[in-house]
Amino acid sequence: MSEELAFNVLINRIYSKTSLDFSRYKREYIKRRISGRMRAIGVNSYAQYLRYLEKNPEEYAHIMDSVAINVTEFFRDPGTFFAFRNEVLPEILSRKIGRKSRGEKVCGEAEKWRGNVPGSCDYGARGDCEKHGGNDDGMRATGCVGLGVRREALRSGAERSGTERSGTLRIWSAGCASGEEPYTIAIILLEELGDDLGNLLVSILATDIDDDALKKAMQGFYQQFSLKNIPPNILKKYFHSENGGYRIKDVVKRLVRFRKHDLISGEKLRYFDVIFCRNVMIYFSRELQERLFMDFYNSLNDGGFLIIGKTETLTGEAREKFICVNVQERIFRKPPR
Ligand SMILES: C[S@@+](CC[C@H](N)C(=O)[O-])C[C@H]1O[C@@H](n2cnc3c(N)ncnc32)[C@H](O)[C@@H]1O
Repeated sequence: MSEELAFNVLINRIYSKTSLDFSRYKREYIKRRISGRMRAIGVNSYAQYLRYLEKNPEEYAHIMDSVAINVTEFFRDPGTFFAFRNEVLPEILSRKIGRKSRGEKVCGEAEKWRGNVPGSCDYGARGDCEKHGGNDDGMRATGCVGLGVRREALRSGAERSGTERSGTLRIWSAGCASGEEPYTIAIILLEELGDDLGNLLVSILATDIDDDALKKAMQGFYQQFSLKNIPPNILKKYFHSENGGYRIKDVVKRLVRFRKHDLISGEKLRYFDVIFCRNVMIYFSRELQERLFMDFYNSLNDGGFLIIGKTETLTGEAREKFICVNVQERIFRKPPR
């Protein structure tokens, strides 16, 4: 049997044993990950590896581990969370609870968060910054065409305030790994909402296919290295120091619900105001990425936001459907009705 054929048999075997469809991931990426496992156990052909799997079915769990790279940290790409706080949240909160832009207060507060955010500015407060692609040309030049920028759409929230008052704020962290991303979102909401938290039902759904990552996320215990982007005052406020590490406080945990979910074969989830799916789709084939972008489009409420990884690109039909809000931070919006 040729190596290519053996690889196809291997992919089918993994699918039948684990329901994980690696044929939808980038072929070279899966090959690299599986080669790593093969080296670790000392086999040098896919055919040999197939025989090894037959005798050692526990190896399927190792394959899963090596393919699902769980690298993450709190406030990963801090600029993205800065933009989430200063561009996305004000728009959503003005719709949901009629909250007006806090103007100068946002600037002042922003200082606290800006910390090590490279190149950040207070355009969230002022509403326009050409540096961040605040005009249509800037967006096209950087490859973000979509429907072009509609800043008026971003500003229209106050006019519509009242339509979704006393509602819920639903956020989905898809491919949440060990929980750092959804907990970061929860911390930002706690900081930003303050007393308004009582006027809004906040729900952060965090999903992943990896059981071990989800277990760790639910435990909410982290080592120093994944906390390096957190300002000291935030660390003190939302974590207990414990046995050389840090445990997330219940006030944060309470906002996040973890659940196993496969983006490829799982049920379609709906009615989100914001979806974070960062650094997950880079492993998927282009065809699958295109399908998932449209799935996310359908999973968002009108006017909802999609935030993807800084090295990822919106592809396929979704490019025409989403409005590009912040090209640098890869923030897109489903047009509001
Ligand atoms: C690099 S981590 C990203 C974590 C976080 N979003 C971030 O940006 O820091 C990628 C995560 O995607 C998850 N993943 C991979 N394939 C998936 C799938 N088909 N469905 C759901 N999650 C998946 C992996 O298990 C892993 O935890």
